[in-house]
Amino acid sequence: MILVTGSAGFIGANFVLDWFAQHDEGVVSLDKLTYAGNLENLASLKDNPRHIFVQGDIGDQALVSRLLAEHRPRAVVNFAAESHVDRSIHGPEDFIQTNVVGTFHLLETIRAYWGGLEGEAKVSFRFLHVSTDEVYGSLGAQDPAFSETNRYEPNSPYSASKAASDHLVRAYHHTYGLPVLTTNCSNNYGPYHFPEKLIPLMIVNALAGKPLPVYGDGQQIRDWLYVKDHCSAIRRVLESGRTGEVYNVGGWNEKANLDIVHTVCGLLDELRPRTDGKSYREQIAFVTDRPGHDRRYAIDARKIERELGWKPAETFETGIRKTVQWYLDNQDWVGNVQSGNYRQWLETNYAGRA
Ligand code: NAD
Ligand code: DAU
Repeated sequence: MILVTGSAGFIGANFVLDWFAQHDEGVVSLDKLTYAGNLENLASLKDNPRHIFVQGDIGDQALVSRLLAEHRPRAVVNFAAESHVDRSIHGPEDFIQTNVVGTFHLLETIRAYWGGLEGEAKVSFRFLHVSTDEVYGSLGAQDPAFSETNRYEPNSPYSASKAASDHLVRAYHHTYGLPVLTTNCSNNYGPYHFPEKLIPLMIVNALAGKPLPVYGDGQQIRDWLYVKDHCSAIRRVLESGRTGEVYNVGGWNEKANLDIVHTVCGLLDELRPRTDGKSYREQIAFVTDRPGHDRRYAIDARKIERELGWKPAETFETGIRKTVQWYLDNQDWVGNVQSGNYRQWLETNYAGRA
């Protein structure tokens, strides 16, 4: 079996659900269930005997050692992280604790486990670390897309903490020979995306009749990838990636934020028109920019295509339509996540913006 951390979050949950759609192999899921972790995402697996969920912290070495000793996974896929840039600006501490210190403890625990393996089990073991394109910093309009050899220039506490974790992973390979793989991916979107991030926030706010807060001029560019394509890329890297290597994963889909918001509004106008006959675009509100806001990200995903034969299956047009439809069909899920901590966060993030 494999051990998947952060499996109750957005990408981790999609990964585990897709895994069982493709594999017979079991999964041990480890997740701390922070505000972003939602067991409802894994509800369809509750009667699956091959799925074991454990609530816990990647930094808890006693717990992770016990799980490794008990289940003897052939691989660990690490999604667990604090993932929201705006939260990292308001409070970086949790990002350092989980993304840096937590990853360090996880690496130490896995190193001890891997050191005790023998023969084929030791040779074939893999630790796959899921990271982000944000570690490469911000691109100018004419710059080439990020390749795996771009230097690291993280600009937010979030991206700095992910960069630190990537460096630790790299060092554990070079120093101890730990068989690691690192993926650096662009912005994901799709089902189960927590509505603090751009696309789900716009869908949810639009339907609730609330403003659609666009930071600054809305011309920042991101490279969007449908989450299930990210999951297939990770499965491919896990199967065939060369240890110690980094693979950039992207959708070849550069879009300005304002264009994304217009697309979401256009789809909602078609699928769930406003009762007053007006467009959801009327709800767009330009607000104060994010401090240190990176202008442009773009991923050069040629290495993973050349070496491993992976490329995205979904176009932005098909992926965003499926995503908007998913949110329309899953209003109960939305209602359930919009409680407690999340409501307080909306006040913290948006109250001070003009
Ligand atoms: P998310 O915030 O939706 O989920 C993170 C999950 O990790 C949550 O379930 C949370 O409970 C869990 N977690 C947090 N701290 C933990 C800890 N100490 N121990 C165990 N579990 C813990 O994030 P996501 O968007 O699913 O991102 C998953 C990974 O992919 C992250 O490492 C992120 O940096 C990376 N990534 C995300 C994107 C994106 O667009 N969302 C793009 C590239 C890379
Ligand atoms: O690039 C990969 C990264 O993508 C991941 O590593 C992060 O975990 C993930 O959160 C995401 O980071 P971003 O900062 O790009 O995503 P977010 O959805 O927060 O914002 C996308 C863009 O939209 C960004 O330019 C900021 C802008 N934005 C965001 C919000 C929440 C707005 O204009 N208004 C908003 O209310």
